[in-house]
Amino acid sequence: MDTPFLASSLHTPNELTKDIRRVIFSEEELQRRVRELAGQISADYRGLDPLLVGVLRGVVFFMTDLMQAMTIPASLDFMAISRYDPQQKSKGAVRLTKDLEESVEGRHLIFVEDVVDTGLTLSYLLRVLKARTPASLEVCVLFDKSRHRLVDVPVKYKGFDLQDRFVVGYGLDYRGGYRHLPFVGELKPELLNLA
Ligand code: PRP
Repeated sequence: MDTPFLASSLHTPNELTKDIRRVIFSEEELQRRVRELAGQISADYRGLDPLLVGVLRGVVFFMTDLMQAMTIPASLDFMAISRYDPQQKSKGAVRLTKDLEESVEGRHLIFVEDVVDTGLTLSYLLRVLKARTPASLEVCVLFDKSRHRLVDVPVKYKGFDLQDRFVVGYGLDYRGGYRHLPFVGELKPELLNLA
């Protein structure tokens, strides 16, 4: 039987794709939407030389494609965070483990995220950045799990709504793996141990 991802991916089955039950967003869909977002941002930020800020690690795949599709000058920088208790993600207690290299004062910032779930991480990091008095600060998110939101966060550029599924690929991981799949898919349930 043909595996369901074949129709929507340029990639042939391999060690990673055999674990995928079905594709949720194909490589082509992702790339098309990323190009649209890049077009919108390029139009909105013409002449402003924006700084794109990402929080490691999942965002690097989206960030790279987004910037490559942008047609205006821009730069990028990254932060990293650690959760005090990874099992208590929804409690949102995070601390910065890597700060930006660049000063953001007076810059036009675009905070780029792969996923917004409860919104707690984003809300914390936006507070940190706002305190540094950028000229402007907007948010660009590829996948929005808005049903899980615990705090309101202002998302100006959004790629896709993501329903309540456990998915991997294009930056999203399961125990650190599968991030480099070029599409987003549901893992076979027998592989999941979310306890
Ligand atoms: C994801 C995402 C956000 C956070 C969003 O990171 O990149 O940083 O979760 O969740 P929240 O809205 O509930 O706060 P993750 O912890 O999966 O780390 P990763 O980017 O290294 O995969």
